[in-house]
Amino acid sequence: MQPRFRPTVAEVNLDAICRNFATLRTHARQGSRMLAALKADAYGHGAPQVARALAAAGCEWFGVASVEEGLELRASGIAQPILLLSGAGRTGMETSVVNELTNVIYDVGTALRLNEVAARQQRIVPIHIKIDTGMGRLGVMPSEWALFLDAIGACSSLHIEGLLTHFSHADESPKRTAEQVECFETAIAAVHARGWKPTFVHADNSAGTLGFEHRYNMARPGIALYGPAPGPSFEPLEAALTLRTEVLFTKHIPAGTPVSYAGTWTSKRPTQLAVLPIGYADGYPRVLGGRAHVLVHGQRAPIRGRVCMDLTMVDVTDIQGNVEEGTPVVLIGAQGDARIDVTELADLAGTISYEVLTGLTARVPRTWEML
Ligand SMILES: Cc1ncc(COP(=O)(O)O)c(C=O)c1O
Repeated sequence: MQPRFRPTVAEVNLDAICRNFATLRTHARQGSRMLAALKADAYGHGAPQVARALAAAGCEWFGVASVEEGLELRASGIAQPILLLSGAGRTGMETSVVNELTNVIYDVGTALRLNEVAARQQRIVPIHIKIDTGMGRLGVMPSEWALFLDAIGACSSLHIEGLLTHFSHADESPKRTAEQVECFETAIAAVHARGWKPTFVHADNSAGTLGFEHRYNMARPGIALYGPAPGPSFEPLEAALTLRTEVLFTKHIPAGTPVSYAGTWTSKRPTQLAVLPIGYADGYPRVLGGRAHVLVHGQRAPIRGRVCMDLTMVDVTDIQGNVEEGTPVVLIGAQGDARIDVTELADLAGTISYEVLTGLTARVPRTWEML
C-alpha cells in the first residue's frame, strides 16, 4: 500500500452493507435470489471488497455495468454469476463468454452475434432477456416482443435463463409501476406460451424491493445496500460510507474579509476559519459552497465561500472545543450525536445520493472495515 499523507478518506463499513443486504432479503419474496448491483465500483464503495463481503453473506448474484467491471470481480475471486446489466457491447462478447459474464440481451442483432460466439466456442450460453415496460431505456419494446422471441428461438446456442424489466417510477408512483408489472406479466406469458421457463424473473430495484408486493424470484437492489433511501418516500437503511478529513490549517480573519474565489462570502464578524483538504476534485460538489455543513467535534460548521478544487473553508467560530490542524472533520456520516447523510448533501446539490456517492473520485482512498 502506498504511504498516505492526506487525511481525506472514505471509510466503508462492510458490516453495514451486509446488514442492509439481510434487511433487503427479508423484503424480497421468500426464496428469491438476490442480485447486488455493484456497478460504478459498488456505487463508490469498492466493488471487489463489497462483492467479497456480500458473497460471504450469501448473495447469489452480482450485477455490473460493463465487461470491465465484471472482469474486476472475477479477478478478485468472485465465482458467483455476474450479470452484465447493459450487455457486453459489440466488442466485449467473446470476453464475456470466456469469463462467464451473463449477458442481458435486448435486441436481435446482439442475440445473433452472441449466438455465433457461443457456437464457435461450442457452448450453450445463458442470457437474460429484457423488455422495456416503460423505462424507455434498454429493453425490447412490447410491440416487438413476439418477433424478438421468434429470433431468439432460432438461436440454438443461447439458453434463456432470465427475464427482466426495470422500473422507472418505483420510488414515486405505484400506479406507473403497476402498469409496468402488467406489461411485464404479458411478456412473461408470451415466453411461457412458447414452452420456455426462464429460471429467474426479475424487476425490483431497491425501491421495488422495499416497496412492492413481490411476484418474482430475483431482486436487484443497489442504492439501499449502501444505506441511502431510494426515494423520498422510503426510510434509509444503515449508511455505509463515512467521508472524513482533518483540518489542514486554521486562521482568524477580521470582519469584512472575503473568503474563496470571487469572494461570494464575506465575514461579518471576527471569524475562525478552518481550511479542509478536500474539494471538487475529490467529488465533493462545488455547488455545496455556501450551502452545506461539515461536522467538527460533533457540531455543524457551515462551508464559507466556494468549494475549490482541493480545499474547502468552514466557519468554526461557534464550535465548542479547540479547532486546530489535525482536528477530525466528517463531511458525510456521523460524528458524536450529529450526522450528515449523503441524501442531505444530494438535496442541497440538486441531485441524488447515487450521483454524490459515485462521484467521489479515485483521489479519495477507500478503507474498508468489517467489525
Ligand atoms: C437494471 C438495473 N437494475 C437494478 C439497479 C439498482 O437500482 P437501485 O440502485 O435504484 O436499487 C439498477 C441501477 O440503476 C439498474 O440499472
